[in-house]
Amino acid sequence: MNKLSVDHLHGIKFLNKSDISLIFDTASNFKEVINRPIKKVPTLRDITIANLFFENSTRTKISFELAQKRLGADVVNFSGSNSSLNKGESLIDTVNNILAMKVDMIVLRHPNPGSSILLSKHTNSCIINAGDGSHEHPTQALLDSFSIFEKIGDLKGKNILIVGDILHSRVALSNFYILNLLGANIKVSCPLSLVPRDIDKLNVSIEPNIEKALKWCDAVNILRVQRERMLKSYFPDNREYSMLFGLDLNKINYVKKDILILHPGPINRGVEITSDVVESDNSIILDQVENGVAIRMAIMYLLASKLNFTINKS
Ligand code: CP
Repeated sequence: MNKLSVDHLHGIKFLNKSDISLIFDTASNFKEVINRPIKKVPTLRDITIANLFFENSTRTKISFELAQKRLGADVVNFSGSNSSLNKGESLIDTVNNILAMKVDMIVLRHPNPGSSILLSKHTNSCIINAGDGSHEHPTQALLDSFSIFEKIGDLKGKNILIVGDILHSRVALSNFYILNLLGANIKVSCPLSLVPRDIDKLNVSIEPNIEKALKWCDAVNILRVQRERMLKSYFPDNREYSMLFGLDLNKINYVKKDILILHPGPINRGVEITSDVVESDNSIILDQVENGVAIRMAIMYLLASKLNFTINKS
């Protein structure tokens, strides 16, 4: 069996092109499974997985839990807000206590960049990063590219635009890594105050005129403005932001071409995207959510197969 080159999923930065192909092939098989009347396989029947969420989540948390249940794993859910962390226990002590209860794999969402790497250095477990602050969100980037691939095929040479709060976005950084691995061309469009320094080192160019950027692209991934990560104001107000960078039908109709529309969620309708675009024929936002389950099944299956477990292939 083909294997991933990594033992943890800390970020797309640590994957290679063969890893991505393997994950996409495996996710395609699991997508077929989750669309059957009986959506479960006993593949991870002997594995226990803990979902540790220290930041809010709807899609990622439910998607991981459903993926685990579809694979027959035992699942425990942990939320930082009502735990003994409030009594002064550290993240590492918390996780080592959870692992002492014979947990095999940890899915971690945490506000601190690098938290999943830190945890893997101080614990003996397989760690999956479900979003670490403004650093990486690898499963989101995998499902984004997988969703584009499903609709328009190989991403090599395709033009992919990312619009929104690039500076604070882990989705943007993970997308830059995966789109580079897959050979796509990448542009961003946003206020210049929301462009990270050194973005050119990631083969990303900047087009502040969104109409020009839309004319160029095959697919556009719209990102939310992450007010909760901003320590200061980066643009005057939401109204001006929406006029200049919000995706609405006027901008789409102006470019007169079919563009795939993605958004990782959560959506702020009327700010970065209007409702009519969310619900338009070219929007694949809910396909992304569906694909998230298949991608996460693939990741957990492939990482579990590197542990010393018997994977149930029936
Ligand atoms: N896309 C995403 O990570 O959504 P949640 O924050 O709801 O998990």
